[in-house]
Amino acid sequence: MKKRILSGITPSGSALHIGNYFGAVKPQIELQNDNETYYFVADLHALTTVQDKAGLEKNITNVILDYLALGLDPQKCVFFRQSDVPAHSQMMVVLGNYVTLGHMQRMHAYKDKLQKGVTVDAVNMGLFNYPILMAADILLYKPEFIPVGEDQRQHVEITRDMAESFNKKYGNVLVLPEPMISKEVGRIVGTDGSRKMSKSLGNVISIFEDEEVIHKQIMGCYTDPNRKKATDPGRVEGNPVFVFHDLINDDKNEVADLKQRYGKGQVGDVEVKERLFEAHKRLFSKARQTRKALERDQEALRAILRDGANKASRVANATLEEVYSSIGIINSLNK
Ligand code: TYM
Repeated sequence: MKKRILSGITPSGSALHIGNYFGAVKPQIELQNDNETYYFVADLHALTTVQDKAGLEKNITNVILDYLALGLDPQKCVFFRQSDVPAHSQMMVVLGNYVTLGHMQRMHAYKDKLQKGVTVDAVNMGLFNYPILMAADILLYKPEFIPVGEDQRQHVEITRDMAESFNKKYGNVLVLPEPMISKEVGRIVGTDGSRKMSKSLGNVISIFEDEEVIHKQIMGCYTDPNRKKATDPGRVEGNPVFVFHDLINDDKNEVADLKQRYGKGQVGDVEVKERLFEAHKRLFSKARQTRKALERDQEALRAILRDGANKASRVANATLEEVYSSIGIINSLNK
């Protein structure tokens, strides 16, 4: 049975990293084969942090190219830009009435800011309202599943709460979505070895950056701090370099051999990292070529986004119309 599935990426950084890829994009690509899938670039969400015109334009283009190059197939999924479907913004205005200020104040992204010492005067309303726009993104398409990383779980939960509160008043109009989060790859650790890999923390391994940049990211990766020399037995368990090997390296014999030698003090960190860099090049070389080709064909890119926007709008507007009718807003959309 085909399931309806939806997910998105915010173009808040310059490009995708392997946390995005293994935690979200790869599962999303696998799902597009046997399901009805909607994937989009959440350009309006990026405004919470990116407020320079050139920077935002560049980020959006990059994420569109990255997403497609990694394997999103616009023949199989509906691929679009959030701002191309105005229903997202319209639905957000409605949904804000079915969630309380208290609930919004308990959201992690907001609370984390305050905990880091940021004052309420420095938190813009776009950031505070972020979960409402995300709920609008989701509920318009009535998806059953939302494939995302662990950091998005709370956003899907508050979306369910909004839908439930709406449905209680108006009947079963909205569908309550389920988060689809992998236990194994739902939270990929960063190169610092402790925190989640994240654009804003600068602890990423990129996918499409220049090779020198990726080499530097890999060589700077945290390993076993107790190991002074290559002949000291090293710790494999929990070592981020081996976490990345397990994810990236298609040569499983090499990974097993490196782990064994590392544990016995028979291989240096530099060699383990160089092998990781080679594996990264192998895994993403095809995507890099695809990305270059896409970049050259701007007209094809525009056509993909136009087509995606049309298909997404049809679904989104139908739900918006139903929502307006349910709440008593009778206008030119539904009359
Ligand atoms: P964003 O752009 O921060 O991240 C995109 C996807 O990558 C996942 N991810 C990770 N997964 C595992 N380990 C990591 N270290 C890691 N870092 C990021 C994220 O969980 C996400 O799935 N708010 C969303 C975008 C969004 C959205 C939506 C998603 C907007 N509207 C509606 C689903 C449905 C975000 O900022 O993701």
